[in-house]
Amino acid sequence: MLKDRLKFPGDKSISHRALIFAAMTNGKCHIENISTGKDVESTRACLALCGIDSNRTNKTISLMGRQLHNPKANLDCGNSGTTARLLMGFLAGKRVKANFVGDKSLSQRPMQRIIDPLNKMGSGIESVNQRLPLMLPGKILKGISYTLPIASAQVKSAILLAGLGADNDTTVIEPIPTRNHTELMLQELGVDIRISANTITVSPLQKPLKSFAITIPGDPSSAAFFAAAATMLQRSDLILENISFNPSRTGFYDALQRMGGDLQYLDHRKNNGEPVGDLRVRSNQLHSIAITENDIPNMIDEIPILAVLATQAEGKTTIQGAAELRVKECDRIHATYINLKRMGANITEFDDGFEITGPTRLKGTEIETFGDHRIAMALTIAGLVANAPVKLDNPNCVNISFPEFYSFLSKVL
Ligand code: S3P
Repeated sequence: MLKDRLKFPGDKSISHRALIFAAMTNGKCHIENISTGKDVESTRACLALCGIDSNRTNKTISLMGRQLHNPKANLDCGNSGTTARLLMGFLAGKRVKANFVGDKSLSQRPMQRIIDPLNKMGSGIESVNQRLPLMLPGKILKGISYTLPIASAQVKSAILLAGLGADNDTTVIEPIPTRNHTELMLQELGVDIRISANTITVSPLQKPLKSFAITIPGDPSSAAFFAAAATMLQRSDLILENISFNPSRTGFYDALQRMGGDLQYLDHRKNNGEPVGDLRVRSNQLHSIAITENDIPNMIDEIPILAVLATQAEGKTTIQGAAELRVKECDRIHATYINLKRMGANITEFDDGFEITGPTRLKGTEIETFGDHRIAMALTIAGLVANAPVKLDNPNCVNISFPEFYSFLSKVL
């Protein structure tokens, strides 16, 4: 039974962007409630190697924007695709010469998706196998018009950030909309960005951005694990405070509501251009739904936990068009399938998703996390409704996005 109020640490996507935009200013910026995850620290460490020093006390960062220099060491993006892809775009636009490296998982993830557009702009990125390590030679960029071949906010943002340092306008066309934090923040910071339907155009920055202060809203992707737990555990009543309600991030919550989840959105407000509010979640019996390709980008990081919910829902839930999950921190389709199957779920794996029939009483088993934070958290929540505890091979991988996960859980259980 879960009864409490939880205030979530800052959204990971917005935290990365706040650091990068602060680096584009010529003054002192203040970032409150920044994500405590290791991924955001990777972005901060890479920026420090390019001359952007920052001071951190717990969840507050102050940072001086200034002229960047070429890093003397490799930029180690750790496990973070957002760090690698957004910084590649940003630093390309700043004509910084840099080598990008990452951990074993990140070094297997596809990078051609940013090499293609950035090299069309003239960045001259060199790679051996279209994966990290990648070398950015620091060339002059020209603006392009580019239609995204895959729905990816990381790719969109990399191109827009590069476009800010190009010598003419850059346009990105998005066939399926993805999270729009880059656009919202640029608008808030007074950058010349034009958005009409699925087309976004930026003009080159003529001068550094003005320094700013920002409080990062709570991460809806972290809160999703607790919304799922409160839904499944009887007599729960949980308030998730100060969460980003940005519609490009609430796909999981929309799906949960469609499944019969008891959600109440409270106290809607705006924070630095981002819609935020509190969310009350109470337990309820769920039924199956069908998720299709257009639903995926707005819930891309929440699909493992949605699959867990589907095991407790009445009927056959289908999730299709989610092939991008195979190239996340691990192959999340397979990792979700293999673990839920071991727990006794009625689940079939497809190239681009799953079919899950519920409800099933899950079994407590060993969980293979593949070092993936979201797999670790989703299967921990599955363990709450299993007949025995689950045992994770690498529980600490949650530190990538949500180091507070286990302490939050023990607070509410
Ligand atoms: C992110 C975008 C998503 C998401 C990732 C963070 C971002 O990736 O999975 O965790 O901050 O832009 P894609 O846009 O590549 O799908």
